[in-house]
Amino acid sequence: TGKIVSIIGQSGGGKTTLMRCVNLLERPDQGTITVGDETIFADGEVACRNLAKLRQRVGMVFQRFNLFPHLRAVENVVLAQMHAAGIGEREAV
Ligand SMILES: Nc1ncnc2c1ncn2[C@@H]1O[C@H](COP(=O)(O)OP(=O)(O)OP(=O)(O)O)[C@@H](O)[C@H]1O
Ligand SMILES: [Mg+2]
Repeated sequence: TGKIVSIIGQSGGGKTTLMRCVNLLERPDQGTITVGDETIFADGEVACRNLAKLRQRVGMVFQRFNLFPHLRAVENVVLAQMHAAGIGEREAV
């Protein structure tokens, strides 16, 4: 909480793949993924009980998807939390 973390690496290094794994849009062949205190993937299986709820917690802007030009960057990021989960703007940001 309160930290900003950057993932830096060469093109093709796996940054986007990592983000897709955190949302379970991509499922790894092995390893464990933990988000906060919840293990969402382990032993080759999805361990997350509520996929929709997980995705409401993890805002993601896709690399090759257009942002909404009428919204600020932060508003694009919190769009899913505000509209899908009904979380207020202040809490979502
Ligand atoms: N499901 C998959 N199985 C095998 N390889 C994959 C899979 N998904 C992605 N890759 C490969 O993993 C590599 C990492 O790609 P990725 O797009 O995550 O890199 P990136 O760090 O985001 O690169 P860029 O800086 O260009 O955006 C690429 O070679 C990609 O083709
Ligand atoms: Mg990428």
